[in-house]
Amino acid sequence: MAKSKKSRKKSKGMFRRAFIGIPGFSKLFEGSPKKNVSFLISGESGSGKTIFSLQTLYNAAKLGHKCLYVSLEESSEKLISYMHEFGWNPDPLIKKGLLKIVKIDPFKVAQSIERSYHELVRDKYMPGLEHIQKLLEADPKIEIVVIDSISVVEAIFLSKKELYRLHLQQLFDFFEKNNITLFVISESGVSPSEYAPRGVEEFLADIVILMYNIRQGDARTSAIEVFKARGMKHLKRIVPMRIESNGISIYPNLKVFSEKLIH
Ligand SMILES: Nc1ncnc2c1ncn2[C@@H]1O[C@H](COP(=O)(O)OP(=O)(O)O)[C@@H](O)[C@H]1O
Ligand SMILES: [Mg+2]
Repeated sequence: MAKSKKSRKKSKGMFRRAFIGIPGFSKLFEGSPKKNVSFLISGESGSGKTIFSLQTLYNAAKLGHKCLYVSLEESSEKLISYMHEFGWNPDPLIKKGLLKIVKIDPFKVAQSIERSYHELVRDKYMPGLEHIQKLLEADPKIEIVVIDSISVVEAIFLSKKELYRLHLQQLFDFFEKNNITLFVISESGVSPSEYAPRGVEEFLADIVILMYNIRQGDARTSAIEVFKARGMKHLKRIVPMRIESNGISIYPNLKVFSEKLIH
């Protein structure tokens, strides 16, 4: 990656722009960090992680930032039609090369990690994610990358936790060294009352965002929380979020539920 390292300049204000794709998101933080950071977006299925990521990339790409969406689950066609559903037309952005949506087979990632188990060489290559590395080498101007979701890889390596940990460490190191904002999506079966840090992901990411699909009686409501933000002040509260026909909006000034509804 030596070539692309050289050509990757720190883009001032870039980080702030990664924040503005979702109305209300930046209000969860006080100020903005000075460099590109890594996010972990964790939440149960259906909590809005994919919509959050697509919306963030769509808006960043519209501002001229080159973005890459790496899907390990859904096909790129499905994600593109998902974007259209919310009124975000990715086609011109894709044509201009500002947005790339690629599907990578998680089993290929797993096989590749397996092959390189005994020869993990830090800084030289990223086992398992050479596909991403190649895409980034081909386009050194890519500034934001989403990986949706890492849980697929984790599931394949259920019995090899140490290998998974090493892999993730390399992944986060790689993006930090190359000055790329990284969003790693992780599936979890969390609910606000029982969340506890569960993996190495929480330690590696600079910012950990939790997304919830909370049950209140016979209804469900969406919510979001900044669980951790390295070196930044942030709201320490679960705040309401709505998924509507034009995407996600966050309402930091509203309450999700009254205390008596928290079990
Ligand atoms: N067009 C839409 N309008 C409003 N809400 C939607 C729409 N499409 C999906 N949703 C909501 O978003 C949820 C799925 O969000 P998604 O980002 O795919 O979840 P995750 O990636 O966390 O599994 C659905 O369960 C549904 O509640
Ligand atoms: Mg998803």
